[in-house]
Amino acid sequence: MAPVNVTVTGAAGQIGYALLFRIASGHLLGPDTKVNLRLLEIPQAVKAAEGTAMELDDCAFPLLSGIEITDDAKKAFDGVNVALLVGARPRTKGMERGDLLEANGGIFKPQGEAINAGAASDVRVLVVGNPANTNALIASAHAPDVPRERFTAMTRLDHNRALSQLAAKVGCAVTDIKKMTIWGNHSATQYPDLFNAEVNGQSAASVVNDEAWLADTYIPTVAKRGAAIIEARGASSAASAANAALNHVHDWVNGTAEGDWTSMAIPSDGSYGVPEGLISSFPVTCSGGEYSIVQGLEINEFSRARIDASVAELVEERDAVKALGLI
Ligand code: NAI
Repeated sequence: MAPVNVTVTGAAGQIGYALLFRIASGHLLGPDTKVNLRLLEIPQAVKAAEGTAMELDDCAFPLLSGIEITDDAKKAFDGVNVALLVGARPRTKGMERGDLLEANGGIFKPQGEAINAGAASDVRVLVVGNPANTNALIASAHAPDVPRERFTAMTRLDHNRALSQLAAKVGCAVTDIKKMTIWGNHSATQYPDLFNAEVNGQSAASVVNDEAWLADTYIPTVAKRGAAIIEARGASSAASAANAALNHVHDWVNGTAEGDWTSMAIPSDGSYGVPEGLISSFPVTCSGGEYSIVQGLEINEFSRARIDASVAELVEERDAVKALGLI
């Protein structure tokens, strides 16, 4: 089988450093799939990416067929099968949301165009760089020839955080928990849903049986975990973000486990009242390399209000990038 072309943007950044070695050792696509890595960076960071590539060489990974480093998006995405869009413009002090969206538009628009121009017909795109959902929307808008379902954004880190916080509360193993869902935006408005999640087959919300804890402790702890990591580590989540990106693509390609699902931010088909086309997080199952939204879940009033609030934020972001002419 020909090696799979995997492009990583922001390859010299902290997530890039935590991600590349695991991709090359088979954690993205499985232990039988060879990969060609393409590292895209801005010109000032190409040298650092070259240093990382030297270390990748020094690991002599059996699955790593080649590494190319470039600052040219067209080259980076030519023939790409899996694109991990990690590099983004972070919000700096005093930056307004409009400036942030505009700066990211300057990154995700040309990357969308380059994917449109050169990607392989089976390309799958995961946007990690924040604001991830809206950046994915921008990239997708500039890749009209690529089916829009191929553009996804990452809420898997939130999903994994939701699993481990729940396991700690009820004293179970993370593997005892199934059917966790993150709804909405990868932001502080995200909603981890314990009403549809199960602990050893029982409703997680009834096992917890403490709505105040759910509302006042659990949801904010999961949603604000990124800020807590920054506070403790002095830098944002990197290894856990890289791990989540691997989980996201691995499950998309190889499938979710029977009787379980995962969370992915994907273009809405209108399910659960989320406006069509918004890139919002849903419960999904994956099989045969495709995902589908889990249908028919009961959404109670508590959940409805929170899903609606997060989706409203996504609508606002979409309207803002529309007003800026980015989509
Ligand atoms: P970082 O600042 O360490 O690295 C970012 C890298 O992107 C830098 O090396 C920079 O040179 C590069 N870059 C910037 N513009 C680029 C462009 N146009 N093309 C290619 N490369 C470009 O940041 P870190 O920690 O690696 O995080 C990356 C992104 O991931 C941030 O936006 C962060 O907010 C986001 N993130 C998302 C998470 C999620 O759950 N969705 C979780 C954690 C981080």
